[in-house]
Amino acid sequence: MAFFGKSKDSEFDISSVTVPTHIGIIMDGNGRWAKKRGLPRSAGHKAGGKNFRTITRYCSDIGVKYLTVYAFSTENWKRPQDEISALMLLFKSYLEEALNDFQDDSIVVKFIGDKSRFDKELRELMIRTEEGSAHRDGMVLNIAMNYGSRDEIVRAARTLAQKALDNKISPDDITEQMFADNLYTKGQPDPDLIIRPSGEYRISNFLLWQCAYSEFVIMDKLWPDFTKEDLNSAILEFAKRSRRFGGV
Ligand code: FPP
Repeated sequence: MAFFGKSKDSEFDISSVTVPTHIGIIMDGNGRWAKKRGLPRSAGHKAGGKNFRTITRYCSDIGVKYLTVYAFSTENWKRPQDEISALMLLFKSYLEEALNDFQDDSIVVKFIGDKSRFDKELRELMIRTEEGSAHRDGMVLNIAMNYGSRDEIVRAARTLAQKALDNKISPDDITEQMFADNLYTKGQPDPDLIIRPSGEYRISNFLLWQCAYSEFVIMDKLWPDFTKEDLNSAILEFAKRSRRFGGV
């Protein structure tokens, strides 16, 4: 399958480059996108949600195996209540549709983060979405919701400390692999490429453990404006990098 896109440098055939196995995206810039148009921030989130679906399907089409999107962080609860309520409504409507929408692409949906803070309706919807897609064999889509990487790491540390207290393991048994197996991303490869649209040079508590050797691409585009061609461009940039994982 050949997919063509325009990069900054040239037009290229994406089937000619190695597509990253795991891509992470910080879907940033919805608020600024809305402000530029004189619209409420919720309109930016709506446009961002629409783009999330487009880019997710495109990732699946080009052979990405894992896609992790940052939808709501543990810190986002600090936002004004009306923005939080609009986001929760949006999550409900998109998730309802997502299950059917992603069916043709065989996408497996998982949520990473602490579900317990969401209301019952949303929690049940998240569980239904996970269970309803678990049998599929396509791209794994991790939606990070009420996700914070520090929180994730503390939870893993607590679980292992409890196991040590219960004499199930000794502290010396703890390895990097055992630690990784206690994160939400258990069993998944680390992200190869993390993309942050909106021009901000920050990781914002996203996949801190998992990004040890990820390549970062920052793009000066707000998330609702981020296109398939921008994704191609990020993949092309990734393909040019020399990854040495600490070696030479
Ligand atoms: C960050 O932009 C974006 C968010 C906090 C929300 C992201 C949510 C979506 C794109 C909807 C996705 C829907 C599903 C079901 C996954 P910002 O508000 O911080 O933008 P700003 O930095 O310009 O203010």
